[in-house]
Amino acid sequence: MAEPPIDSDHGRALRTSSWEAILASQQKKVDLVVVLAAGEGTRMKSSLAKVLHPIAGKTVIHHVLEAVTPTSKEVSVVVGAHREEVEAHLSEIAPSAHRVHQAERNGTGHAVQLALADTNITGTVLVVAGDTPLLRTSTISEFIEAHEELESVASVLTAVLPDPFGYGRILRDDLGAVLRIVEERDADEDQKLVDEINTGVYLFDIETLREAAKNLTADNSQGELYLTDVIALVKASGKIAVAIQSNDFTETLGINDRSQLAQCAAIMRDRINDSHMLNGVSIIDPMTTWIDATVEIDTDVTIMPGSALHGKTKIASGALIGPRTTLTNVTIDRGAVVIESRVADSQIGAEASVGPFSFIRPGTQLASNSKVGAYVEIKNSSIGESSKVPHLSYVGDATIGEGTNIGAATIFVNYDGVEKHQTVVGDHVRVGSDTMLVAPVRIGDGAYTAAGSIITEDVPAGAIGVARAKQRNVLGWVLRRRSGTKSEQAARDAGATESTL
Ligand code: UD1
Ligand code: CA
Repeated sequence: MAEPPIDSDHGRALRTSSWEAILASQQKKVDLVVVLAAGEGTRMKSSLAKVLHPIAGKTVIHHVLEAVTPTSKEVSVVVGAHREEVEAHLSEIAPSAHRVHQAERNGTGHAVQLALADTNITGTVLVVAGDTPLLRTSTISEFIEAHEELESVASVLTAVLPDPFGYGRILRDDLGAVLRIVEERDADEDQKLVDEINTGVYLFDIETLREAAKNLTADNSQGELYLTDVIALVKASGKIAVAIQSNDFTETLGINDRSQLAQCAAIMRDRINDSHMLNGVSIIDPMTTWIDATVEIDTDVTIMPGSALHGKTKIASGALIGPRTTLTNVTIDRGAVVIESRVADSQIGAEASVGPFSFIRPGTQLASNSKVGAYVEIKNSSIGESSKVPHLSYVGDATIGEGTNIGAATIFVNYDGVEKHQTVVGDHVRVGSDTMLVAPVRIGDGAYTAAGSIITEDVPAGAIGVARAKQRNVLGWVLRRRSGTKSEQAARDAGATESTL
């Protein structure tokens, strides 16, 4: 654990204790949180707004809002760049959040001025950047506690980073009291050596912030109003401003470019994997296992290397997933096995078996004990209990009953070039290998189809559908038409003659 910071003015460090359990009952709330999300995100070099980039199945700003919403009575988001997209997303994930429009991006100080101009709330405001998705509610709660205990009116949350490049640096006096914050671009060589950075998370008394923000100037390398300058302004007015050090620097990493996006995603991956492992899930290779924050997994599930679980995926106890399997919005029942496969928007029944190399597309239901084998593609179909599609088949828009076997390389011909059609296969059917089932068509209970048939008409229960040309053998053909080949020689050695009889 990190040494407590030397912050002699009112110094103390945040505790590392986990607050999550008591948050619901004891959550300290401030009066307002302002989330800054109007920036251009230029360094992302993306047509997508920075705060809309996904990490673990949620956008960056969704993670931030989830962390801060429980700590505040009101939520206000400053939007500007990519405004339409960001606002549309906010309507989905945080409909009650208030929005402030920053038409011209004049810096973080300007964004906060606009947010305050838009409200008459008094009390305490939490300010966070919309690009720090790893921040936790528990850390903010501890920050609020420290801010109150120290009777501060302007507090900045800091962290010591192994590589502080790009962040604002915390300048302290000889006694450790914060003096001001200097941005990387405005820092001299000595200041750049400081490894304590501004996390971009602040608490202010709203009236104090309102007053100080009036005095911000754009006297810096970017010609912008820096919110960071408020700390020095508050100190200059004789009030208490403090810098409080967080002891988990990973929480405060900001995303400015794709490299930092990947870095944050990896930390989030580890967090999510750790929490599943602590809940009794075996993750064989956490480094290559990517699980969205929205996924639910029961105890005694095993996840093999190279797997990715996305969206509303839900996995019941005893299931085995992977290696190299991607599941998106899939419900997996007890004891099912999915190996080296891709499955989306589907349900896999108890003890069912999928893969290797199966592609299961939206709208598929596999009943319990069913089997989908190698090189099989299934779309919008239901496969009954204990039925099997073991090898090399395409099944589309079909309903298959119980205890049925679909022979190798069977194709459900569901598309006539214009419309899709349904195929219904009954219980205990045996579809011969390499059958084409040309939809719409029905195969009755207990029926068979002959291998290689092209079935265009319904096959009644108990019948066998045979739809293929009768075989004829032309004797001696190779000897006459392929003379001089190894085939001819082999045929002669086997006693074949030119005779056509
Ligand atoms: C900012 C801090 C820096 C700190 C870092 C932490 C300032 C001047 N610098 O730098 O000290 O170490 O965050 O991550 O505050 N935004 C607006 N309107 C604007 C400009 C920015 O809403 O006019 C928003 C951005 O969308 C972003 C946040 O404010 O979410 C921070 O802006 P960004 O440009 O990322 O600041 P940094 O350079 O990271
Ligand atoms: Ca940033």
